[in-house]
Amino acid sequence: MMTNTSSPSSPAPDAPADAARGGEIAVAFVVAVAENGVIGRNGELPWRLSSDLKLFRRLTMGKPIVMGRQTWDSLPKRPLDGRENIVVTRNDHLDAKGAHVVLDPISALQLARDFAQKSGVDEIAVIGGAAIYEALLPQADRMYWTAVHGSPEGDTTFPDFDLSGWRIVSQEPISRGPNDEFAATLRVLERSDAALE
Ligand SMILES: NC(=O)c1ccc[n+]([C@@H]2O[C@H](COP(=O)([O-])OP(=O)(O)OC[C@H]3O[C@@H](n4cnc5c(N)ncnc54)[C@H](OP(=O)(O)O)[C@@H]3O)[C@@H](O)[C@H]2O)c1
Repeated sequence: MMTNTSSPSSPAPDAPADAARGGEIAVAFVVAVAENGVIGRNGELPWRLSSDLKLFRRLTMGKPIVMGRQTWDSLPKRPLDGRENIVVTRNDHLDAKGAHVVLDPISALQLARDFAQKSGVDEIAVIGGAAIYEALLPQADRMYWTAVHGSPEGDTTFPDFDLSGWRIVSQEPISRGPNDEFAATLRVLERSDAALE
């Protein structure tokens, strides 16, 4: 979970990846985190949040997505359509139909960059779970962070990180529909320039 706070300012949550980074392909985490840091329970999401699933689809559509094998296993429908699915595993015999299997997180990013370049998108989406967020935290440029306003029980948490190297560039409530167990807020975080120097 985040260990610090910072004040929000401007851009839209689905603004294109940072042109200031010289048109490079940005690495974006897409994650939903409860107030107690929980992101998963028994290999699944610990809540019913239909609005966030729709947001997830919008934020990731057309982009290469990188995930751990357990997150792949948890998907109700595999692969996720309209996106190149890249699955990280240590099992070189993994049969993941419709996905690209790679044996370490950095290779996953390299492959994702190739796909992004070929299809002309400027962002890679890292979609979890905890093991993959932790491994790729140093590579992340941006986070689409759904703050879930509740503290459900769970067995998987987002890795601790120091928010002082990040700034919140936008924040907006996700309107709560009938199929949302909790209210939530989408925050967009970017690495602050100071952290890059
Ligand atoms: N709230 C959210 O936004 C969100 C997002 C995603 C997932 N989740 C939840 O998080 C939980 C899953 O997270 P998790 O941390 O348990 O699993 P995970 O990160 O999805 O997958 C872990 C697996 O990835 C592979 N792996 C990890 N590090 C590796 C490395 N360095 N090299 C090669 N392979 C590596 C291993 O696969 P093998 O065992 O096959 O070798 C490992 O078992 C689920 O409950 C899921 O629903 C929540």
